[in-house]
Amino acid sequence: MMKIDLVTIFQGILDGPFKESMIKRAIDQGFVEINLVDLRDYTHDQHRQVDDYPYGGGHGMVLKPEPLFEAIEDLKSRSGADQSRVILLTPQGRPFNQKRARELAEQEHLILICGRYEGVDERVRSTLVDEEISIGDFVLTGGELAAAAVVDAVVRLLPGFLAEEALADESFTELLLEYPHYTRPSEYRGMEVPSVLLSGNHGEIARWRRRQSLKRTLERRPDLLEEDDLLPEDKEYLEEIKKQQS
Ligand code: ADE
Repeated sequence: MMKIDLVTIFQGILDGPFKESMIKRAIDQGFVEINLVDLRDYTHDQHRQVDDYPYGGGHGMVLKPEPLFEAIEDLKSRSGADQSRVILLTPQGRPFNQKRARELAEQEHLILICGRYEGVDERVRSTLVDEEISIGDFVLTGGELAAAAVVDAVVRLLPGFLAEEALADESFTELLLEYPHYTRPSEYRGMEVPSVLLSGNHGEIARWRRRQSLKRTLERRPDLLEEDDLLPEDKEYLEEIKKQQS
């Protein structure tokens, strides 16, 4: 079973996300254990101080090294895992994506540190942390919501948790954006569901979906279209669209 420890000073932010829906089910069914760890439990002073002023001046506060070092060392030794991966959530990190989520889903023990304030003492980053992750080019008030997003993306990939077919279908198309989905009614306020989806012809439906994915990706995220991942008929179709547009 995978174990995930989330180190935070605001446990309340992380109380909700793991108590609903799929992640709750993953916990209940024993695919993952998720623990919220209060960084203040690793302080030794009366005020349970986790931050301090930056050397050299400047505004904002910095997370102190001692509580983080002690927390990580304690969590590692208590985990029983052969290997633990320590991740700091920060806008300075490597951009998170589906490939990274797949890699993390293979780990035995993850320790996610939710950064706060102006940042964490550099000695934590350089010696304790294995990798830094950003969930996008924007700045949150802290790493908690980023950590929740990473946990959510990783847990749904844990071996055996989701139906194999769902994931296989997804891995085939994960480098492209999703095709449009429709459900009943077949006509709503004059808007009709594309007739191919009602045809029962599975070959035609698959072809339509693939083309819709390609078209959507070309329009919205052309950066995702890697030559190597495309089939010859994909390339032909993209050329066709490009010609029509020019
Ligand atoms: N902490 C603050 N902003 C963040 C982001 N974009 N990704 C990860 N952690 C963060």
